[in-house]
Amino acid sequence: MAILLDGNAMAAELMAGLKQRVTALKCRGISVGLAVILVGDDPASQIYVRSKSKACEKLGIQSETFQLPERTSQTELEALIQSLNQDKHIDGILVQLPLPDHLDEAAALRKISPKKDVDGFHIENAGKLFTGQEGVTACTPKGILYMLKAAGIPLEGKEAVVIGRSNIVGKPTAMLLMKENCTVTICHSHTVDLAAHTCRADILVTAVGKAGFVTADMVKPGAAVIDVGINRIENKVVGDVDFDAVEQVAGYISPVPGGVGKMTISMLMENTVEAAERKAR
Ligand code: GUN
Repeated sequence: MAILLDGNAMAAELMAGLKQRVTALKCRGISVGLAVILVGDDPASQIYVRSKSKACEKLGIQSETFQLPERTSQTELEALIQSLNQDKHIDGILVQLPLPDHLDEAAALRKISPKKDVDGFHIENAGKLFTGQEGVTACTPKGILYMLKAAGIPLEGKEAVVIGRSNIVGKPTAMLLMKENCTVTICHSHTVDLAAHTCRADILVTAVGKAGFVTADMVKPGAAVIDVGINRIENKVVGDVDFDAVEQVAGYISPVPGGVGKMTISMLMENTVEAAERKAR
């Protein structure tokens, strides 16, 4: 039976440490501010944005959510980003993705000051990750690595397979695993014989968005399985992994909910506190 990677417990510990850092900044008269921009009314995005502002509240970070209508133009969105870049009370700017189809996501992200890019999505931060330079790292990948390391799972020389090649999860997670000297394979919707790859994985990360996608026969006995999927099935939230069957085979498994999701938010808080600390130096 696999050991559970308890994101709730790890996140609680992280949040306690971050609260102390926010308090230490407050003692120096420095407040920490996060601006969250949400365009349109995608219900899942609304839930994520609410949980981000709740986490800010817990830590004493000032959070401001800008809820823009679906019809918002690129110019309006970029004007808001520019004004937040100039705002000295704001340390972090987050544009909740996905944006409505008529908006240019990459162009909007490029307008965020790289220093305030707490998601690590700006091309400068993504490029730094790609070239092995210090920068802001995307929250979910950072949370995944934190979980693996906190559980003491060996990474050096191990086979890691990431299913999904998004800029938000798949690609940056692969980069971080490679930095830890894993041998990394990225699989995606065009991969031929996916199971042949996943069965070799000591570390298996799945970010697909399909419930029950990873079955027990796709998992190497003893592997660490990290489930990044968030799927709603009859009012229940589940990941990509057939949890009940896979936990019989895997060595470690992260549940959904209670796994990576909480880590993502904690890492967003960490990136925001770090941005404020950098500014204070
Ligand atoms: N949409 C899905 N995940 C994320 C994330 O980590 N950050 C932002 N901004 N949008 C997302």
